[in-house]
Amino acid sequence: MEGLLKFITCGSVDDGKSTLIGHMLYDAKLLFTDQEHALELESRVGSRSGKTDYSLLLDGLMAEREQGITIDVAYRYFATEKRSFIVADTPGHEEYTRNMAVGASFADLAVILIDASKGILVQTKRHARICTLMGIRYFIFAVNKMDLIYYSQKEYTRIEKEIKKLAIDLGLCNVEIIPVSAVEGDNITARSLSMPWYQGKTLLEYLETVHIEDGEDEQGFVLPIQRVCRPNQSFRGFQGQIESGTVSIGDELTVLPSRERASVQSIFVADKEMTLAEKQQAVTISLNREIDISRGCVMVKDADVIVSNMFTASILWMDDARLRRGKNFLLKLCTRLVPASVMQIKYRVDIHTGEQIAATSLGKNEIGVCDVVVSDEIVYSTFANHRGLGSFIMIDRLTNMTSACGVVEHSLRRSENIVWQKLDITREIRAASMGQRPMTLWFTGLSGSGKSALANEVEKRLNVKGRHTMLLDGDNIRLGLNKNLGFEPEDRIENIRRIAEVAKLMNDAGLIVLAAFISPYETDRQGARDIIGEENFIEVYVSTPLEVCERRDVKGLYGKARRGEIPNFTGISSAYETPEKPEIVIDTGTQSLEECTECILTFLYQYFLVEEGVCNDVGR
Ligand code: ADX
Repeated sequence: MEGLLKFITCGSVDDGKSTLIGHMLYDAKLLFTDQEHALELESRVGSRSGKTDYSLLLDGLMAEREQGITIDVAYRYFATEKRSFIVADTPGHEEYTRNMAVGASFADLAVILIDASKGILVQTKRHARICTLMGIRYFIFAVNKMDLIYYSQKEYTRIEKEIKKLAIDLGLCNVEIIPVSAVEGDNITARSLSMPWYQGKTLLEYLETVHIEDGEDEQGFVLPIQRVCRPNQSFRGFQGQIESGTVSIGDELTVLPSRERASVQSIFVADKEMTLAEKQQAVTISLNREIDISRGCVMVKDADVIVSNMFTASILWMDDARLRRGKNFLLKLCTRLVPASVMQIKYRVDIHTGEQIAATSLGKNEIGVCDVVVSDEIVYSTFANHRGLGSFIMIDRLTNMTSACGVVEHSLRRSENIVWQKLDITREIRAASMGQRPMTLWFTGLSGSGKSALANEVEKRLNVKGRHTMLLDGDNIRLGLNKNLGFEPEDRIENIRRIAEVAKLMNDAGLIVLAAFISPYETDRQGARDIIGEENFIEVYVSTPLEVCERRDVKGLYGKARRGEIPNFTGISSAYETPEKPEIVIDTGTQSLEECTECILTFLYQYFLVEEGVCNDVGR
């Protein structure tokens, strides 16, 4: 008997997806009696002139749609004598691509419905491509509504040819094509009498017998750590679900990314002590020596995994806002959650033709290939080698929504060949020799809000007190280091990334940095915070309202922007996202420069006093 089969059904709205599964459940006698009764009753008043409407069984989704609530993936469980199944039923329309991707990521096989009276549609190609991207390797193309084309073998053969061509274009393997009529029940569970020319299996027969080679080619033992448990002083267990391979007592494991080694002392599956555990099992493992392991680390043995911070990936972008180069987000890969950004978008894939089209951004539901850089070394694999360690999602830092899902194509070699060089004179030594605590004061706000003037004033006061400082200002940096950047979103993102890296270097050198940049996007400011370090980053939101900045118009830029002479001008034709949790908020419209300066110095004074207890005279 074959094991549990997880599959997804994909089809456009009227392809008869629900009817197909409904009919299968009905024929296979997988309904509860009351369900069967209700179905017959409802069908009598339904549209199929008294005949049973099997789609009623599954169209709970329709109800959701009518109520306007979120449509998620509906998982249905059923079992025949030969096999157990879970089917993910997802809406087929383009706006629900996100749901489909979620459903596909869980499935081993996809049943793609094609309306025989329409043939292959754009949707069909999109569905097949997304399923491939999500790692599905088994496909059934169910050519439905054969009754509408009078069970014509000739028509079917034509569609079959189209499907075979699509399978070659997409590089699909394990493709089965079955002519069916979901409404009439042809080739669903019983062989159709109307299509004697079809000699293959019925849909259910195929589903019951198909053998899924699931990760049998994945090499070695891989255990991503979910949790460290310490019930008492003498036991330290590492918990997680085994992604591949087996583990036995005495095995020598390597812990990544630290590359430390230790041997397995004990293995528990639930509360049972075992000598061996295997793929899919949730285990607790203890080791023969103490090493530093936390959530996100991965234990391996003979596995082909990569430790680095850059890779090239194929992604499905699912957000309304376009993905642009430099975009910051949180990357979740197995049990690891880390800040990351898209360094470069290489191209987008045309859903219909598969063509690679040059692109600098990706729109909703587009598939593209891009280079991703992660803030730390992480453990991963290519998707081809390892499904679990080679797939990830990108989470928006502001909304917490999943913006994309992706698979790793390959690691970027250069990241593996660059190793952090340890220096003898550390950041702490440099800071101590300057007698101060380095930090970055990040001023953000509209052009003309008073950021530069304020940063200038604060710097003077710090200087008088003998502090070592450096002021980085938007206009000045754009005349030098960033002279190749403009004001398109991509350029602003890169502008802020570079400034954050420079500020960090200056902090490393021991300096207190004052950075005054519009920095209009929250995720980029968050990215700057990550680069510089939460504990060294003080965000000062200069909240002076647009009307006030525009009235001042010190540089005459607002006037020009209003006349349409400057494109993408912040506040006029380009967005400014209000900071979510700045440490300090200053309005130069209602307070004098002296008052604003005093306010910041007071904050610093308290900050130093409470946090450090050393430089309690900063700037006072
Ligand atoms: S940021 O958005 O990328 O952070 P930055 O602070 O470096 O901007 O530069 C802003 C300065 O550039 C403004 O103070 C203004 O003098 C000038 N500038 C020129 N064009 C624009 C524009 N389209 N939008 C905003 N500022 C502009």
